[in-house]
Amino acid sequence: MGTQVAASTHELRKVYGKGEAQVAALDGIDLDIGAGQFTAIMGPSGSGKSTFMHCLAGLDAVSGGRALIGDTDITRLKEKDLTRLRRDRIGFIFQAFNLIPTLTAEENILLPLAIAGRKPDREWFDLVIETVGLRNRLGHRPNELSGGQQQRVACARALVSKPAIIFADEPTGNLDSTSGAEVLGFLRRSVDEFDQTIVMVTHDPVAASHTDRVLFLADGRIVDELWEPDRETVLERMVALTNGAH
Ligand SMILES: Nc1ncnc2c1ncn2[C@@H]1O[C@H](COP(=O)(O)OP(=O)(O)O)[C@@H](O)[C@H]1O
Ligand SMILES: [Mg+2]
Repeated sequence: MGTQVAASTHELRKVYGKGEAQVAALDGIDLDIGAGQFTAIMGPSGSGKSTFMHCLAGLDAVSGGRALIGDTDITRLKEKDLTRLRRDRIGFIFQAFNLIPTLTAEENILLPLAIAGRKPDREWFDLVIETVGLRNRLGHRPNELSGGQQQRVACARALVSKPAIIFADEPTGNLDSTSGAEVLGFLRRSVDEFDQTIVMVTHDPVAASHTDRVLFLADGRIVDELWEPDRETVLERMVALTNGAH
């Protein structure tokens, strides 16, 4: 089966600080992320998860190696082209929702398209709204919505522009388990039904069990991976990692 590659890294390095205080946050990451796959990034605090996501999403400059979105080496792009690539080909979902409080749910969802000067595909918009179950909440402002509903708005906002890849940084970190399960449910659906590619940082073995593949980071390296993960196996690997088995 010839899976297409949505994103990849080659010898990716990121070093913070200078001299004695230097930290290799990413220490040579080689990775292909398949299109239409749901990938989880796990690992202890400080292992480089956020740095990895930021470098691959073009939010942070790399120190060495390459990072590609599709065929585009983003480490070689000028700032202006990088901004356009982020806007047109990447979707983001953050732990803190990051919605604009004065805009309605619908306005928040359509804002990235408006900024890009693109017209929403109405049929696609309707399908996304249906999927995340926001039909009768579109006129509400964020403070009139629950945390789970706000994160659904953020998911719809990420999906509506049909990005090549969505990066989600602990998208369920601020949600109760029911709302978290809902959000994970339609991230899963968007992969299965819309062929969306998603990379998600998480601490939660239950969240990871919704994905196709879990990558484990430690000290800026990929030290383990797991396909078709279930909660128990993820938990075992996490424990092994924390006990320094790598
Ligand atoms: N802006 C920064 N300046 C200096 N060191 C940083 C910075 N961001 C992250 N680091 C360091 O890089 C390493 C990886 O951090 P991070 O990617 O945030 O890990 P994680 O998301 O897995 O908790 C840590 O040692 C952290 O202290
Ligand atoms: Mg982090």
